[in-house]
Amino acid sequence: MTADLDAIAKAHAIYTPLSLSFYDVAVHGLSNRFAWKCPTSKLVELYRRHLSGNHLEAAVGTGLFLERAGRSFDRLVLLDINTNCLEMAAGRLRRFLPDCRQTNLLSPLSLGLGPFDSVGLTYVLHCLPGSMSEKLVAVDHLKPSMAKGATLFGATILGQDIRPNAPARALLRAYNRQGVFNNLEDNLGTLREGLESRFAQVEIAQHGLVALFSAS
Ligand SMILES: C[S@@+](CC[C@H](N)C(=O)[O-])C[C@H]1O[C@@H](n2cnc3c(N)ncnc32)[C@H](O)[C@@H]1O
Repeated sequence: MTADLDAIAKAHAIYTPLSLSFYDVAVHGLSNRFAWKCPTSKLVELYRRHLSGNHLEAAVGTGLFLERAGRSFDRLVLLDINTNCLEMAAGRLRRFLPDCRQTNLLSPLSLGLGPFDSVGLTYVLHCLPGSMSEKLVAVDHLKPSMAKGATLFGATILGQDIRPNAPARALLRAYNRQGVFNNLEDNLGTLREGLESRFAQVEIAQHGLVALFSAS
């Protein structure tokens, strides 16, 4: 698939140094609880369960979950298309000496690195343009970087088969109009099918508007 370059750019242009300075409060402090109905503690729990010391974080944002999980890393690689995100997360996680790579997950990755025991993919599928099967190309690009038995895990905000409250409806409408989100056709079933077609073991559950998944 050749995703529209303009749509790919719109999905991350919002992450400026200024917006990143209040991202954690706006998204993980307020939206998760009041709009997406999935408390941040659920996401931190997911990280605590699946993180390994040899970890690749795809679409790192501010790096909040890696910090909150409270573990150390022998090797930590951070991927993101947006250099503001990489700089912010790398600063926050500097004690782990992260290796940062500017990468578009919708293009094949050429990391030239050995395999990882865990890969995080949180809150980016709902940003990526295209249908679920087109978004999951990102997983195809990450899979060759996984060691045998490694786990890919993360979360995404769904746009279908959900019961959004008024704030969630307003945010979904505004973000999809701006191209920051592209999730109005995303649902749990297509995500589950896409993961099950790629991995032997898949766990997936919906909390509020959020799908939490792990696959190995
Ligand atoms: C909603 S933020 C989530 C950040 C973080 N994972 C979290 O949960 O807080 C989306 C992240 O995906 C990144 N992103 C968006 N499109 C991308 C793409 N095509 N390739 C790689 N990263 C992308 C953004 O730059 C941003 O860091």
